[in-house]
Amino acid sequence: MNLEAQFPAIDDLRRHARGRVPHFVWAYLDSGTGAETAVARNRAALDAVTLTPRVLRAVTEPDTGVTLFGHRHPLPFGFAPIGMAGLVWPGAETALAGAAAAAGIPFALSTVAAATPEAVGPAAGAMGWFQLYPPGDAALRDDLLARARRAGFHTLVLTVDVPLPSRRERLLRAGLTNPMRITPRAALDAARRPAWAWATLRAGIPKLRTLEPYAGTQRGSATGHVGYRLRVAPDMAYLAALRAAWEGPLVVKGVLHPDDARAARDAGADAIWVSNHGGRQFDGAPASLTVLPSIRAALGPGVPVLWDGGVESALDILRAVALGADMAMLGRAGLWAVAALGPAGPAWLIELLRRGLTADMAQLGAARLTALSDRRTA
Ligand SMILES: Cc1cc2nc3c(=O)[nH]c(=O)nc-3n(C[C@H](O)[C@H](O)[C@H](O)COP(=O)(O)O)c2cc1C
Repeated sequence: MNLEAQFPAIDDLRRHARGRVPHFVWAYLDSGTGAETAVARNRAALDAVTLTPRVLRAVTEPDTGVTLFGHRHPLPFGFAPIGMAGLVWPGAETALAGAAAAAGIPFALSTVAAATPEAVGPAAGAMGWFQLYPPGDAALRDDLLARARRAGFHTLVLTVDVPLPSRRERLLRAGLTNPMRITPRAALDAARRPAWAWATLRAGIPKLRTLEPYAGTQRGSATGHVGYRLRVAPDMAYLAALRAAWEGPLVVKGVLHPDDARAARDAGADAIWVSNHGGRQFDGAPASLTVLPSIRAALGPGVPVLWDGGVESALDILRAVALGADMAMLGRAGLWAVAALGPAGPAWLIELLRRGLTADMAQLGAARLTALSDRRTA
């Protein structure tokens, strides 16, 4: 397959992916909440940022590298946690982790992934981060953390923007139940997408495998989705306790206000992850890019700032870096790559972004990422 000709941009991966997964799977991956204006706002905020090229600087081999928590990453992006990635395409977690490890970029495994830290850890190698939806039960929390650490995940990401499940109206319309049940409509949807259906039948119905061992515990025995039953809405005391329980770098994900960023840092967070959860939690939220500069200003240069929200190109990553991010994280884009091309998808996505970053930084006359803040159009 000539990837360059067939998939020259991430949007080509997206369109191909859409044609390969059932309707309810696309609804799961693509949807926001409410009228989905926060999703659109993320895109509009990115498009509104222009960067002005500087010339006569002869930049042809820009350095796209960034150092984070003592790791030198050759590229300024990584993979954000995606719950039930294996529903979108079987083996997605391992495919993304393996490509991230090969490229030397971070991969974050979700608490509610369809694969366990034990299964994904070897593929992630030294690039594994573990994302925590905060268990209410301290013993359960410690067990989960110990499992992640043993499996090689050295950086912990606490997601703080899901105090309760959001309403995902598009999922309801698509008939996706939680936990998943095979409704007649879902079976019909799946039959129309044979490659997905065969792969899924071979791999087994996707489940919240990491949490399965806890499903029978006291807190877990009520009805409903185990991923939500086990977790609490975290507060500052939760963050402080987690800080004491986890030795490695700790990232707080889902921050949109500068005061919250400062408070999380003061409670022991090593980095702040600016995000509106891909527009999936609160439809009134600002675009994550819009609030990024104020959070960078509040924290000063010493605290790493990660950011996500709508990356569809290398240019989007450079826009975020220019506005104060150390690294941009990719949510849906990683899954578009796996669904479009199978296990080979993420490596092609990374290669597309690497080429785009080099081309765009040369155009901007930026030899290093640190030069980008000066390229914002005045
Ligand atoms: C299908 C899907 C599942 C997600 N699951 C999680 C999750 O389990 N934990 C988490 O912290 N964020 C989760 N997110 C949010 C992403 O980590 C990330 O913040 C968001 O997708 C970034 O926006 P983008 O998809 O536009 O790149 C999920 C997002 C999507 C699209």
